[in-house]
Amino acid sequence: MTAQLIDGNALSRQLRADVSARVTALKAKGITPGLAVILVGDNPASQVYVRNKVKACEDTGMHSLLERWPASLSEAELLARVAALNSDASIHGILVQLPLPAHINAQKVIEAIAPSKDVDGFHMASAGALMTGMPGFWPCTPYGCMKMLESIGYDLKGKHAVVIGRSNIVGKPMALMLLQQNATVTICHSATQDLKALTLQADVIVAAVGKRNVVTADMVKPGAVVLDVGMNRNEEGKLCGDVDFDGVKAVASWITPVPGGVGPMTITMLMVNTLESAESQLS
Ligand code: GUN
Repeated sequence: MTAQLIDGNALSRQLRADVSARVTALKAKGITPGLAVILVGDNPASQVYVRNKVKACEDTGMHSLLERWPASLSEAELLARVAALNSDASIHGILVQLPLPAHINAQKVIEAIAPSKDVDGFHMASAGALMTGMPGFWPCTPYGCMKMLESIGYDLKGKHAVVIGRSNIVGKPMALMLLQQNATVTICHSATQDLKALTLQADVIVAAVGKRNVVTADMVKPGAVVLDVGMNRNEEGKLCGDVDFDGVKAVASWITPVPGGVGPMTITMLMVNTLESAESQLS
């Protein structure tokens, strides 16, 4: 078997076209969706992510506000910026790029964002809403993974999904989203004993560890769907995921590539969340 690719670039283009059309409709009613992105310090990866987020706003017709601050910014100053953006009517989404410098308590900053503008879905209120099935913003990366499964018409009901990784940003919300679609979910992590025994039972594997070759062909049940959230570099500096793509694609039925898989979907879902935040002003 050779797996079919779930193309995150192609799916993103489709979804962003829909976002653009809805942005145009909203503008006609006098509302331009606006996203504020705050970057503190000069982490090179963060600079790339932030640039891509601002560009996605431009491409979809949204307003974006990029605030760059030196790493010396104090926590109190950052909290003051968040408070100002919370009460800025032209801003519907606030994103503070992580990681923050060590002297700033990232959780405290996240909790300062108004839940109604928490388009990253990292606020406790957003996490609680996801957990209880109430309306709220879903974290963009796992949300993008769910859209990828939807795009191939995959019915999760009764399927066994194995999530590798338990971060607040990906692993934990991913597990809750899969559960909401009636999958049986196993969360694996660094203390899991015999990861392979579990992944071999999986109909769906989501790899979100941040380490190369966490999932190899011998760990995958023939026909499984494999979503790769990893963003790593190999010895040659080439971007690669957590999954041994060349090996696993011979066993899986569907697989996401890196690059061009989950990555673009994360930004696309950020656009969707920001748009929906602005749309909610109408109701
Ligand atoms: N750093 C890495 N991924 C993300 C993300 O999705 N949102 C924010 N705010 N920071 C990140």
